[in-house]
Amino acid sequence: MQLQNLVTLIKLHDKYFKPFISAKEIDDVMQRLVAEIVEDVGDEIPVFVGILNGSFMVVSDFVKKYPKPCEVTFIKLASYEGVKSSEDIQRLIGLTQDLTGRTVIILEDIIDTGNTLTEVHRIFENEKVKSLKIATLFYKPEAYKKDFKLHYVGIEIPNKFIVGYGLDYDGLGRNLPEVYQIKETQHMTNLVLFGPPGAGKGTQADFLKEKYSLVHISTGDVFRYNIKNETALGMLAKSYMDKGELVPDQVTIDMLNAEVEKNADANGFIFDGFPRTNAQADALNKLMDSKDSQINAMIALEVDDEILVERLLSRGKTSGRADDADESIIRNRIKEYYDKTAILKDFYSAQNKYFGVDGVGSIEDITVRLSTVIDKL
Ligand code: IMP
Ligand code: MG
Repeated sequence: MQLQNLVTLIKLHDKYFKPFISAKEIDDVMQRLVAEIVEDVGDEIPVFVGILNGSFMVVSDFVKKYPKPCEVTFIKLASYEGVKSSEDIQRLIGLTQDLTGRTVIILEDIIDTGNTLTEVHRIFENEKVKSLKIATLFYKPEAYKKDFKLHYVGIEIPNKFIVGYGLDYDGLGRNLPEVYQIKETQHMTNLVLFGPPGAGKGTQADFLKEKYSLVHISTGDVFRYNIKNETALGMLAKSYMDKGELVPDQVTIDMLNAEVEKNADANGFIFDGFPRTNAQADALNKLMDSKDSQINAMIALEVDDEILVERLLSRGKTSGRADDADESIIRNRIKEYYDKTAILKDFYSAQNKYFGVDGVGSIEDITVRLSTVIDKL
């Protein structure tokens, strides 16, 4: 299981966002913008004009860093609906003071299409300011359609929707001190990996996760991790286990959900040890559905019973695992596996998602067989 390189997603309304620019990085850029501007402005007293709502945080942090006297005012424009910029800019609050002869610097949070900027220039058309300059923390060059000069640009970013540090998605996210970028639904390959004890599931999972950049989620590891770290879900699970009761599926699903969300950038997941029942398989489908994704395949490594028994007995000789030492225990574990997974084989077969793969041969041969199945998904 990968517990390093975690990416924690946030959800605002119906969309997921991933960390994009840290508060520290923003602070450094703000410092640089202040330095550039104070150098140009010199001893004049500039008027900084913020464009509400988005720029309130930029303006606040900017003027706190500004080392000389300055004035601050705001105009309020509205253009964005959801995640799309619109041509139709509304002027909600215009200029409320005479700026004749003044050095004016517009402080924007973000310049996207430039529609808002057009309106800003319209507002200043008849003002006899000494100079009008534009400063923006974020700039999306691929989206910009105008040719107004941008005098001070903090960070150029790709044409993807961001939130945080004043920027919102339908009202939410403005208060975040760092910036998040929308997580577009990408094609994911999500596998449920099955195999009887001794089939080489662990070995193959290690290869597959490397080859396809998948995150291996072993339910056993997830449980141990949550319990060891005393997470809320871990404690909850433990409370059932202490009473000798089964942990409710929802608790397990919530843990898996947390793992999926922590790995926002994964190409997909290999689920191992889950689901074990139809109800769990349904719940897993719902979980993937909520991420605009799906389980693409259940892949089962098929190995003849006699070979499994042989493999496990020889593993038992070196591993010292008690359950690998006794032939009747081994046969029982294998039988239990088939009893349990038969239902799931039917469940995924009904959706044309069951793939049995011959698990006898060299490790490389088996990896090739698995890859053939995955590449066709
Ligand atoms: P423009 O008029 O297309 O340049 O967009 C400027 C305004 O749209 C900004 O002041 C923001 O309010 C909003 N905006 C543009 N891009 C984003 C974004 O990625 N996240 C949130 N708001 C944005
Ligand atoms: Mg704005």
